Amino acid sequence: MTLSSLAMRAVTVLIVLSQVAAARISPPVLTRSQEDLDNTRPAGVNIISHDHTFTTNFLGLQLANNSASHRDLGFTGQLGGRWYAVYGDVLWCAPGVTDPAKDSPGFHGMVRDAISLCTDDPLVVHDLHLDIVGRQQQFIPFHTEWGETGDFGFGGTSLVEVDSETNVGAVFYLVVKILPGVHLLLAVSIELTGSCQNGNKTGYRGAGIAKVQLLDGIPTVTHRFGDRGYWWDADSTARYGDVAAFRDPRSEYIYAWGGAPMKIKGWVDSSYVYQCRVKATEAFDLARYEYWWGRQMGWKSESLTTFTAETAVMWMSGQGQVVWNDYLGCYVFVRLGPLSNDVLLRTAPLPEGPWSDDVKVFTATPIGQDGMTYAGVAHPYLDPSGRSMVISYTNNNNIEVIKVAFD
Ligand SMILES: *[C@@H]1O[C@H](CO)[C@@H](O)[C@H](O)[C@H]1NC(C)=O
Ligand SMILES: *[C@@H]1O[C@H](CO)[C@@H](O)[C@H](O)[C@H]1NC(C)=O
Repeated sequence: MTLSSLAMRAVTVLIVLSQVAAARISPPVLTRSQEDLDNTRPAGVNIISHDHTFTTNFLGLQLANNSASHRDLGFTGQLGGRWYAVYGDVLWCAPGVTDPAKDSPGFHGMVRDAISLCTDDPLVVHDLHLDIVGRQQQFIPFHTEWGETGDFGFGGTSLVEVDSETNVGAVFYLVVKILPGVHLLLAVSIELTGSCQNGNKTGYRGAGIAKVQLLDGIPTVTHRFGDRGYWWDADSTARYGDVAAFRDPRSEYIYAWGGAPMKIKGWVDSSYVYQCRVKATEAFDLARYEYWWGRQMGWKSESLTTFTAETAVMWMSGQGQVVWNDYLGCYVFVRLGPLSNDVLLRTAPLPEGPWSDDVKVFTATPIGQDGMTYAGVAHPYLDPSGRSMVISYTNNNNIEVIKVAFD
């Protein structure tokens, strides 16, 4: 990211927000048959608002105890009995600085994604893969043999455990050739809404999966699958994993949610979210994946080729995280907005839904004039009982943390 691209942020945000606003004001225009079969409309009760009361407390900023970088996302996942946060853009602090109060202003360089160790303290993480001057290195490496350079983005979501005996995990990512002046629009668009138009303009290549192993005890990407480093071509298939990824503790499956293919045009149609799953132990075998074709057709091995409100699971969800909550007895999807600064929770009996409407548990206050809030993150390891949920989200490249306690 350059300083001039930082300056473009305000402009691009306004464009995106006005598109979001327009889409909200006029609800999706659907053909009759789609109206009959819109599987993305809320269904069933929201267990939280229906059966419980809750109180939400703001806990503060999440910081690393060994750097003062600014960043976004931080989706959590487990590997080898520990929990890790996968961040998006990491804006380095000045070399050697670990106290945010002592960081000097200005741009000190960045990486496109990074991984940190979560701790028992919701406000503290420990950055991994630091170089000798304390700059966190990129988690998902680019490969020059596939034509990738440091200008490529690798939007990642949660780390998912594949094999708990050998401590092998995986991370889904979206390969994006970042074109000058466009990347913030696309980044913002994915993160706020889970959708993006004009695929060729934004340089989306495809969604892929990487193998993650503990090397010297630290999660490290050891292999990226696919001839060109991805499996799902962004033009013709959903971008599985760019919205959310989840290792279901109640089944053998890993689930991944992703935005519509680039060939799908128009704001409304390109904002649907599609889902796939695979048995965790088979996560590196593309042939073993199953695709959700909607409630009427269910899971199929056949790759999804029809992208409609029937085959989608959500619409304009933004990036978030799915967790199982033992206390509530349901799956919970954590997200923000997209038009507001609200932290929203929806519930479902199964990861493929049907998902209820959202309950608002908090409204964030954007930091700074152009501050954006997005990317709902769950921290289930902090209360395995599920009685409370610690949630973090991005606020203008800071990570803020709240705690929701259920009665
Ligand atoms: C930061 O947190 C990690 C994980 O809890 C811990 O191992 C490390 O000692 C901490 N470092 C500092 C400087 O407190
Ligand atoms: C992107 O460009 C390729 C090659 O020119 C074309 O086949 C594809 O349809 C384009 N995709 C979109 C979304 O315009």
